[in-house]
Amino acid sequence: QKQGYDWYMRKEIFEQPRAVADTLLGRLNERGELILDEIRISPETLRRIDKIVIVACGTAFYAGLVAKYAIEHWTRIPCEVEVASEFRYRDPIIDPMTLVVTISQSGETADTLMAIRHAREQGAKVIAICNTNGATIPRESDAVIYTHAGPEIGVASTKGFTTQLVACYLLGLYLAQVRGMKYGDEIAALLRELERMPEAIQGMLDNQQQVLDLAREFVNEPSVLFLGRHVGYPVALEGALKLKELAYIHAEGFAAGELKHGPIALIREDLPVFVVVPPRGRDQLRDKVVSNIAEVRARGAKTIVLAEADDEEARAAAAVFIELPKLSTLLQPVAAIIPLQLFACELATVQGHDVDQPRNLAKSVTVE
Ligand code: BG6
Repeated sequence: QKQGYDWYMRKEIFEQPRAVADTLLGRLNERGELILDEIRISPETLRRIDKIVIVACGTAFYAGLVAKYAIEHWTRIPCEVEVASEFRYRDPIIDPMTLVVTISQSGETADTLMAIRHAREQGAKVIAICNTNGATIPRESDAVIYTHAGPEIGVASTKGFTTQLVACYLLGLYLAQVRGMKYGDEIAALLRELERMPEAIQGMLDNQQQVLDLAREFVNEPSVLFLGRHVGYPVALEGALKLKELAYIHAEGFAAGELKHGPIALIREDLPVFVVVPPRGRDQLRDKVVSNIAEVRARGAKTIVLAEADDEEARAAAAVFIELPKLSTLLQPVAAIIPLQLFACELATVQGHDVDQPRNLAKSVTVE
């Protein structure tokens, strides 16, 4: 039931605070340790893992790209991410010391299933992140972390994505805890921050009007670009994917640092360019992204900037400024994707498309 919403997708966007809260439920004990009982792979085995490979398709693949940044940072285990359809055909280097992490909302995607079968044949351990109890992929994996998003009906994934991000963070922090790495001490602090995430998402949803107005303004645009850096890069890719899937317009996400290596040639007067700005940190990432905004602005593009509310420089460079809550860099994608989901949903609605059943797409692709 759509419960008063026009689309399942819009309902699912608004369910994200609850979905994320449910995915986090009961993960933290009173000593501030992370509990992931469902990882039925012994701590000894997890300590011996020397490589992680994440395989997934579509939106789940973009969740995997975010996971790579987090997992490598917290655990120092090398982590690759690959679209599942490419994985087994290139004879990937995997062995019993490899941990394969697969992400699939439905748990039935054929490309992903074939990838994990191949991985297990090589002796790798497989952990599935999945939203569907008892689906084929979790059944064929060594362990599963369920996201508790509830059924996702809209073909374009929304709460599937944010809960996958949360499950990936939990897995990364758990591995850091088990392996006693230096970031192990930060686990409790990061979990507390994760627990505030439903509130952060709710804040983004409460401020949706600006994004809805923007969608109406851009309804006839033939092309929209998205720029991001670090974990903002997969957010840019996912924002572009949502727009392609729902509104059938040309949309592309780029790593902001690549701008001058090609994409800047696409910048023209009035082209809408979304830019995800990282929080201020020790590195200069945020400063670099702010100068990217100036570069596209100087060429006449319409910059829609997502940044922390007190980032005055980012605000000054923006044609439209969308405020993000204060979060650690690695966790920012969970909040930053919300306005991009709303934008695509609204734009497609105004265009008169079927948002829940976009043309040519299936919710779950069960053939390779
Ligand atoms: C696609 C869906 O075909 O499969 C996407 O249209 C989804 O929305 C992708 O992200 C992967 O699906 P799953 O169920 O494996 O996460």
